[in-house]
Amino acid sequence: MDKKPNTSPSPDTSSKAQHPSHSMTAVVQHAYGLDAIEIAQRPVPSAGPGQLRIKVAASTVNPMDRHLATGSPGFVRLVEGLHRPKHEIPGREACGVVDQVGSGVEGFEVGQSVFGWLTGAYAEYAVAEADHMWLSPTEMTAFECAALPVAGATALQAVELGNVTGKRVVVNGASGGVGHYAVQIAKARGAHWVAGVSSSSNTDFVRGLGADQVIEYGSEDFTSQRWDVIIDCIGNRSDAEIRRALVRDGRWIVVGDQKMDGFLGPLPRLLVRLLRWRFGSQSCHWFVQGEDARYLKEIAALVDEGKVGSHLSETVTLGDVRVGYDRIKSGRAVGKVSVDVTAARGVPSSKANSDVGTRS
Ligand SMILES: NC(=O)c1ccc[n+]([C@@H]2O[C@H](COP(=O)([O-])OP(=O)(O)OC[C@H]3O[C@@H](n4cnc5c(N)ncnc54)[C@H](OP(=O)(O)O)[C@@H]3O)[C@@H](O)[C@H]2O)c1
Repeated sequence: MDKKPNTSPSPDTSSKAQHPSHSMTAVVQHAYGLDAIEIAQRPVPSAGPGQLRIKVAASTVNPMDRHLATGSPGFVRLVEGLHRPKHEIPGREACGVVDQVGSGVEGFEVGQSVFGWLTGAYAEYAVAEADHMWLSPTEMTAFECAALPVAGATALQAVELGNVTGKRVVVNGASGGVGHYAVQIAKARGAHWVAGVSSSSNTDFVRGLGADQVIEYGSEDFTSQRWDVIIDCIGNRSDAEIRRALVRDGRWIVVGDQKMDGFLGPLPRLLVRLLRWRFGSQSCHWFVQGEDARYLKEIAALVDEGKVGSHLSETVTLGDVRVGYDRIKSGRAVGKVSVDVTAARGVPSSKANSDVGTRS
């Protein structure tokens, strides 16, 4: 595996010399529903073949984390456990320090700061498949870095599907987790013009991301203009409106959908849409984010080049992840909601700041 030497500020380099005690603090959930969320002590996991054990510094809350916690829409239970969550400890992305390297893993060492996808990130230690992790970008705190895998890789995939170079692009939901990365990555990938759609309270934020135009949805309708590419993180417009807003060979990249109720949530309408959009020169692309380390590598490079940054609107601790879920449910999160795992180790807040690294 091609890995550059890690010079990033390590969230906690002291872990090299530490032997973790046998238990750790974790968020656990044995039933669907936010009332079932508890804090408990669990054994520290061990890295198996091909895996890394990470001493977690930070994680985040994504819309999917809330769906997994509530078991809604119902179809998530078909994949994640019919009666209770399949994984006792939630949290799907993290930044932290490699604490143990499993057999057969190459390119990683104890003490390196890494980020990526894993299961059970809301805990002091978590085990990750080595091919789902990458070395942390150098100019980021662990909090900012933990926000990249899910939303950043989704945004990167959306931009790639949009083939945005030289194009007029609009990002619907530009102030959210995925949207704020999509604006920055579309600019970095050579889009000719990038517009972001947001409420009036977030127009300055979206402009600050580098958008050439901000469309305040309370007073302006982005579908009244013509676009080569629509990156749609909200899914609140009809197919007819989107068709009218796209040029002849325009692309609609569907990232999210507002219909998340019922057993199947957005699935029936997404499937019908994919069939309908098979005909004609305009196209509709819907995807589920792939967990490929290539995306982490590319995002880390964009961060190191100063082209992409993470915006964190708030940080919750393991003890109050429900606050984070509520924030996501409100649909008003700006950028990302971060989870501070160092607080579980009783690190005082001033020390926690140095443990998670600060932007130089
Ligand atoms: N396809 C995939 O693999 C994949 C991966 C990750 C996420 N997703 C989905 O993508 C969607 C977005 O995820 P996210 O993490 O970005 O969510 P998020 O951070 O919770 O999005 C919140 C943002 O949505 C904006 N918003 C709400 N209503 C809006 C409207 N009517 N018009 C424009 N913006 C509006 C809000 O801005 P204002 O307050 O300014 O309105 C807020 O900044 C979710 O449905 C998620 O499930 C899909």
